[in-house]
Amino acid sequence: MSDRLPRPASPAPRDAAAPRPASSPPSRRAFLATTARTAGVVGLAAACSGCAWFHKKDIDVRAAPEATSIRLAFADHAALKTPNGFVRVSAQDGDLRILVVRLADGRAVAASMECTHWGCDLDWSDARGDFECPCHGSRFDPAGKVLEGPADDPLPTWPVREDADGLTIDLAPT
Ligand code: FES
Repeated sequence: MSDRLPRPASPAPRDAAAPRPASSPPSRRAFLATTARTAGVVGLAAACSGCAWFHKKDIDVRAAPEATSIRLAFADHAALKTPNGFVRVSAQDGDLRILVVRLADGRAVAASMECTHWGCDLDWSDARGDFECPCHGSRFDPAGKVLEGPADDPLPTWPVREDADGLTIDLAPT
């Protein structure tokens, strides 16, 4: 009689046609954005705890998912009448996050809050009059043009119409 224990039965081979688990891997874009945000948060937490950057993810206005334009009345958003004042807008169920800024020269611009490098939230620099990324230092001018890398691609921007009572951001594709 053998003193060896019987081997357990092998698991049944996986049926290739069987449905996979419900969860699916995140998209590359979502993965990179999450990684960049995590790295940025860890880095900034070490560099400047309590830093104002942590508030930049706040959203002031959430547009309806189907909205093709966003109205920002001065009565509700007085910052948009002040040089370097800004409002953070979320549209299309959060797919678009837009920073609307009153420039020091009087113009108003609307640009993506999301850095084109790895997706960190951008800040607005009063001193320089540009968009700056707290993660790796990319900078963009008010028209979205890259002023300093590592980002290569410009920021998406949207047309802004102004009248006496407020601003309208046009989200329709051009
Ligand atoms: S995420 Fe790297 S520079 Fe903005």
